[in-house]
Amino acid sequence: MNVIKKVRGVVSFAYTCQADKQFSDKFWSRHHIASNGYYSVRQYRAATCTELGKPLQITEKKSNELKPGQIRVKIHAAAVNFADVLINNGLYQVKHKPPFTSGLEFAGVVIETGKDTKTKVGTRVVGMEFMTGHAEETCVRENVVYQIPDDMDFATAASGITSSYATAVGALESKARIQPGEKLLVTAAGGALGLAAIDLAKNVYGAEVIAAAGGSDKCNFLEQKGFKTIDYSKESIKEAVKKAYPKGMDVALDSNGGDHFMECFKSMAVDGRLLSLGFSTGKFPSVPVNHMLVKNITVTGFYWGIYHKYDVSYERWTINEAFRYFTDGKINPHIGATFSLDKINDAFAYIMKRKSIGKVVIEIQ
Ligand SMILES: NC(=O)c1ccc[n+]([C@@H]2O[C@H](COP(=O)([O-])OP(=O)(O)OC[C@H]3O[C@@H](n4cnc5c(N)ncnc54)[C@H](OP(=O)(O)O)[C@@H]3O)[C@@H](O)[C@H]2O)c1
Repeated sequence: MNVIKKVRGVVSFAYTCQADKQFSDKFWSRHHIASNGYYSVRQYRAATCTELGKPLQITEKKSNELKPGQIRVKIHAAAVNFADVLINNGLYQVKHKPPFTSGLEFAGVVIETGKDTKTKVGTRVVGMEFMTGHAEETCVRENVVYQIPDDMDFATAASGITSSYATAVGALESKARIQPGEKLLVTAAGGALGLAAIDLAKNVYGAEVIAAAGGSDKCNFLEQKGFKTIDYSKESIKEAVKKAYPKGMDVALDSNGGDHFMECFKSMAVDGRLLSLGFSTGKFPSVPVNHMLVKNITVTGFYWGIYHKYDVSYERWTINEAFRYFTDGKINPHIGATFSLDKINDAFAYIMKRKSIGKVVIEIQ
């Protein structure tokens, strides 16, 4: 490889290419002809967290050599998740030490495969892995990616199939065991996870949904989609539920924590199931166990990401279910805003200011 780096001109290299196509593919996936005419290791741009809590920097990184089991993906689109905001501020349950590439959900094309892999070059994939997505390329273990259905574009693939929809499938289908006709309350219903959950609940599981969100923009959007809403910037969730459903909710998903979680708790019907999925308000509520007892309420946590480590078959099942519902035309992932990689800090600010509806996507290629 070093010898080739020093060779100027294409002729000798072209000969090598024809002699060994595999070597050629591998070589070109990491190299290019620089402006001085020499072959050099290709660089790619990445949004890098250099200091927790500070804006991301766009930096140039060298394409790494693949390790066995890894593939190289040219990223076309990536999501900005609330988890990315937390990670880059050092507030997520999994901590990373800067400098690191921001992003964990991406969609793109496999451009090189390492030893001991089965994926073919050219496969369109979506993947979830810490420290990967907000960049022009990434090297990841083959088992973190999933082939994208032919009818799905890259932006849609990155818009939450492997995070928001897969989480909502797990939460509603296997954890809450939601049944047709049951009444479901979802907080942050205009966010990526919330919108995925209510889309599935209404269009796949046949539940009766009440969508709670903060502000008229989100509530108007949700009403246009046919949902009953609670605007919790103006009214109490508990009082609104009491009016609409005096017996209370069968299932509730809360990802806000704090007072919103407690209001959901107080809105549960006898035998209700309340799932805690996150704490976007930054506040961790405490559950009064005596109240759980008198109404036979089940309160449970649900962290989809844990299955990547402890039960990958479960993770696969949730993602494949989400793909199947998409291909069957039952679900409709919503991209509320797109940004370029250069504007990634604006995308983060957009989420932190609670402006986003559905998924925020970074278009990279
Ligand atoms: N358990 C899991 O496996 C899992 C998986 C994915 C996500 N999550 C969690 O679910 C939550 C939503 O994630 P997401 O990716 O859907 O995020 P998102 O699209 O950015 O939505 C976040 C929502 O949180 C609400 N929110 C409440 N307080 C907020 C605050 N102080 N700052 C910003 N937003 C606030 C906003 O809705 P309003 O303005 O309408 O209140 C917003 O729509 C996060 O807490 C995330 O960590 C959990």
